[in-house]
Amino acid sequence: MKLSRRRSLRSADGGGSVDSRPIGMFDSGIGGLTVLHECLLAHPHEDFIYLGDTGRFPYGSRSIDELKAYAYQIASHLVGQDIKLLVVACNSATAAALPWLQEHMETAIIGAVHPGAEAAVQTTRSRRLGVMATVATVESGSYPRAVHGLDAGIRVFCQPCPDLASMIQNGDVFSREVVDAVSSYTEPLRQAGVDTVILGSTHYPLAAPMIQRALGKEVALVNSAEEIAREVGEVLERKDIDNNPGRQGDISFFCTGDVESFTEVGARFLQMPLDDVGKVELSELERIVLA
Ligand code: DGL
Repeated sequence: MKLSRRRSLRSADGGGSVDSRPIGMFDSGIGGLTVLHECLLAHPHEDFIYLGDTGRFPYGSRSIDELKAYAYQIASHLVGQDIKLLVVACNSATAAALPWLQEHMETAIIGAVHPGAEAAVQTTRSRRLGVMATVATVESGSYPRAVHGLDAGIRVFCQPCPDLASMIQNGDVFSREVVDAVSSYTEPLRQAGVDTVILGSTHYPLAAPMIQRALGKEVALVNSAEEIAREVGEVLERKDIDNNPGRQGDISFFCTGDVESFTEVGARFLQMPLDDVGKVELSELERIVLA
């Protein structure tokens, strides 16, 4: 039996308990680091385990069945590290697998779509909303579903951006190629007259200034990473699984692909050194199948 790191300490005044287990988080690559960044700002006292599935990147062109299998393998792997909460820091994996994953795992799971949809519904005044996302996310219909669950009268314009996450992941964010791609993906949204755009991939906040310039400053951008971090805070508080607020948290990084390039690109985007990135072998993950 696994020994849980959870300690239940009641202070003399009857204050809350302390749960020292880490929060697990995964993405297809480095995009989820935008979520990790927001979580480090909001929850600096928590420990995080981040896994980038770089060996199987990109997720955005994968089928729903592939994404479900990957999400289940990674979720099971992280749950095996005694995490207290799992954050699917990837819109494509969330769109394909979240409810299904929640049905099959014991651990609480937060996904990427709902937090951004909720913020966007609150932000839009014209009720004309744009979504920039991968093909997998757009085809799943997850964003229109989440938005219409909150306000059925909002017009949602989804723009697939097939190669944008790959360009960003390659580390080439400021190239002419990315500027041209952003300009062509934002044009239909400008034509549609949206006043709010959801950055529906965790990679896109890394190009947010460029996207904002292309859309114009009157369009509000919703950064799903910020909204996910806010929801993490709500879950920690409601379930009373916060770590001790007086401590400094720790982060462990893992990837399934090339460790050197993950370390290099990840450090650049997170603006901190990524020490001792561990490798998780795909052969190990692929042995995990739903019984
Ligand atoms: N970060 C992923 C997302 O949020 C997209 C990248 C990919 O295609 O793997 O959808």
